[in-house]
Amino acid sequence: APSAGRLLRGPVVSFLNDPGEGDTPEPGSLLHLEDGAIWLVDGRIQAIGDYAELAPQLPAGIEQVDYAGKLMMPGFIDSHVHYVQLDIMASYGRQLLDWLNEYTFPEECRFAERAHAENVAEAFLDEQLRVGTTTAQVFCTSHPVSVDTFFAAARRRGLRMLAGKVLMDRHAPEALTDSVESGVRDSERLIGDWHGKDRLGYTLTPRFAPTSSPAQLDTVGGILRNAPDLHLQTHLSENKGEIDWVAELFPDCRDYLGVYERYGLVGPRSTFAHGIHLDQPMRNRLAAAGANIAFCPTSNLFLGSGLFDRLACRDAGLNTTLASDVGGGTDLSGLATLKAAYQVGQLLGQPLTAWQGFYRLTLGNARALHLDTHIGSLRQGKEADIVVLDPAATPLLARRSARTRNLAEQLFALMMLGDDRSVYATWANGECVHQRDVASTP
Ligand code: GUN
Ligand code: ZN
Repeated sequence: APSAGRLLRGPVVSFLNDPGEGDTPEPGSLLHLEDGAIWLVDGRIQAIGDYAELAPQLPAGIEQVDYAGKLMMPGFIDSHVHYVQLDIMASYGRQLLDWLNEYTFPEECRFAERAHAENVAEAFLDEQLRVGTTTAQVFCTSHPVSVDTFFAAARRRGLRMLAGKVLMDRHAPEALTDSVESGVRDSERLIGDWHGKDRLGYTLTPRFAPTSSPAQLDTVGGILRNAPDLHLQTHLSENKGEIDWVAELFPDCRDYLGVYERYGLVGPRSTFAHGIHLDQPMRNRLAAAGANIAFCPTSNLFLGSGLFDRLACRDAGLNTTLASDVGGGTDLSGLATLKAAYQVGQLLGQPLTAWQGFYRLTLGNARALHLDTHIGSLRQGKEADIVVLDPAATPLLARRSARTRNLAEQLFALMMLGDDRSVYATWANGECVHQRDVASTP
C-alpha cells in the first residue's frame, strides 16, 4: 500500500455496542455514515468519519476508492467452521452420527496428505473472502499438516484466523485417531509455531466428548490451565443420539456439559458449537464461565439437529456467536447464516432483527471471541478488515433495495436476499483481497 495509505469513501455501518432486540438500535450502539470515509494506513484504520470532515485532513493526492451506493461494514466473523469439510458440503440424507461416519471421517482422512490440505485451504480462504468473511475459528483435522497448511495460507493473505488440530483418540477410524501423548505433543508444537504469529491464534480442538478418552480431555484441560490465552472449541448437545451416547460414555458426569466442566474446558475463551438441547441451568453454567455457544442455523437445519433457542441463552446472559459450521452447514456466507437464523427464530416466535443479526456477525462475534480490541468494528486503530456490500448486486436485489425506506429495511433485505454476489469487495489487513467480477454478475 502507498505509505500515505488509502481512503475508502462511501456509506458506513458499524456497531459500537449491542443494539438490543428492539426495532430500533439502542442509543449509541450504531455508527452510520451516509457519506463516510475510512483512512487505511499500514493495515489499520487511521481515521474514520464523515467524508466532508475527514477529507481536508488527508495527505494531498491520497489514493481514493469510491464506494458510493455500496455499504461498508466490518469484515464478517465465523465462530465455528471446518475448512476440511468444504468438499463434503451437501452430502445427502443423514443426521449427525451417520453423517460423520459416512461422509466426514473418510474425507478427513485425505488431510494426511500435504498437497490435498494445501489445495483445500486455498479454496476455502478464496470462498470465505468471496462472501466477506475475514476471520473464522476453524477446525482442521487431527493431522498436524492440516493445521500447518491452513495457518501458512492464512498468514500469506494477512488474515486474522483462529485454528487448531482436532484431538480425538477413540471412536473414529484409526487413520484419524491420535493418542493422549501425540495429541499433546502435536498441539504444543503447533502452538509454538503459530500462536501469536502475525494475526494467527491457536484454538485447542477436542472434537467432542465421544471421541476423546477421559485421559485426553484431562490433558487438554492441563494445557489450557497453563496457557489461558489459548482458545478452545468443541461441539455440545447438537443431536439426541449424540447426547445419549455421551451419557453412556460418561455415566459419572451430571450431563453433557458436565463432561467438559470436569476436565476444565469451560472458560471465557471456549466456544461450544450448537448447544441446541440444553436446559436453563446448563445455560447459566456456560454464562457464568463466560463461554459462548456457536449458533449454526444452516447446519442445524441441514442435519436435522433442532431449533436453537437464542433468547433463552440471552436470558441466561450467555453469549451466542454466529457460525456456518460448514460442512454440516450449507453456506459459508454470513448473510446466508443470518437468513437461516431468522427462519429458525420465526419458528420459535423470536424473529432476529437485522440490527441484532449484523451486530452478531461483526462486533458480537468479536467480543465473544475476545478479538474486539482488533476487529469487529470500524474505529480508529482497529485492523482494516472491511466488507463492501452491494444493495444492487442483482436485478432483484436492486428492485427490492429501491423500495426500502430506511437502513433497517435495507439491511434486512440484504440478510434475506443477499449472497456472494452481494459482496462487492473484501478488504483484509488494509488490502483489497476480493473484488467481485462484475462482468460475470448480472
Ligand atoms: N460433532 C462432532 N464432530 C462434528 C462435526 O464435524 N460437525 C458437526 N456439525 N458436529 C460434530
Ligand atoms: Zn462443527
